Amino acid sequence: MIDLTTHFGTVTFANPVLTASGTFGYAGEFAELTDLDKLGGVVTKGISPRPRFGNPTPRMCETACGMINSIGLENVGVDAFLSDKLPLLKRIGAKCIVNFFGETFDEYVECAARLDEGNRAAGGGIDALEMNISCPNVKKGGVEFGTDPVVAGQLVRACRGATQLPLWVKLTPNVTDIVALARAVADAGADGLSVINTITAMGIDVRTRRPRIGTVFGGLSGPAIKPIALRMVYQVARAGIGLPICGIGGIRTAEDAAEFLVAGATAVQVGTHNFTDPDAAARMVDELAALCAELGVSRVADLVGTLDVSG
Ligand SMILES: Cc1cc2nc3c(=O)[nH]c(=O)nc-3n(C[C@H](O)[C@H](O)[C@H](O)COP(=O)(O)O)c2cc1C
Repeated sequence: MIDLTTHFGTVTFANPVLTASGTFGYAGEFAELTDLDKLGGVVTKGISPRPRFGNPTPRMCETACGMINSIGLENVGVDAFLSDKLPLLKRIGAKCIVNFFGETFDEYVECAARLDEGNRAAGGGIDALEMNISCPNVKKGGVEFGTDPVVAGQLVRACRGATQLPLWVKLTPNVTDIVALARAVADAGADGLSVINTITAMGIDVRTRRPRIGTVFGGLSGPAIKPIALRMVYQVARAGIGLPICGIGGIRTAEDAAEFLVAGATAVQVGTHNFTDPDAAARMVDELAALCAELGVSRVADLVGTLDVSG
């Protein structure tokens, strides 16, 4: 029997397989397509203080090895999340991580505070908050907060004071030095790091000579970004910052997930692949156990950070 238990800071997951924000709705959308109880955790679509309608279409296009999206953080807002979405998330076995953001510093803090308050009023259900300072698809309140270590640190410090829940920070790969960002948010009080969000990209239709995405640029996700994400997870892990890392980027199989664990992640999130195979993340849990057996480890935790880079 393989022990898949994963301790991510103060949060204990039954297994390290989570679903990534924006690719799994608020979990209810997937209830008939997969076994939600099997997942280690679900990360919700990003929540803002008020509902948002997102960007104009087209908001998604396919590439040869992934997709580009520019949804623009469409979401139901914090009140509707707490009243309509949290009850189901509370009932399922998977832990619930709420991804959140704002357009301004004050909105970030407001969102963290209202989620914290709503969680206490509901008697729990939210296990951690994941702060998105890395969305490339919005004019205000996204990646501009996540590319400057000083600004990112100030924002994390402000939100830290607004909630008692574990605070994860989701980093953008659209920087030269991801370790500087990771260090800044760790110093500011983050409890965990999610690495990575999408990579700024574009597609062009030569017949119409138009961009394939309404906002011209969008975020690339899927298999194309996995090697970049792995490199960044490894860089952050190697820097010895001391925070647990949730690895994200192009994960489709148990072997992909294991690569992130070996690179130094303590848990992983499955994103774009949920659109192709909504049951893949849940299945990956069993596949990961089988892979551990094959690799001769009895606990999945024994894979974490075991990369051998000796000559
Ligand atoms: C359609 C779509 C919507 C997304 N929405 C969010 C979001 O609301 N908040 C967030 O932090 N990340 C969001 N992401 C980024 C994913 O959570 C994930 O970091 C990224 O897609 C890389 O993982 P993947 O290659 O497995 O998809 C979104 C991604 C996609 C494809």
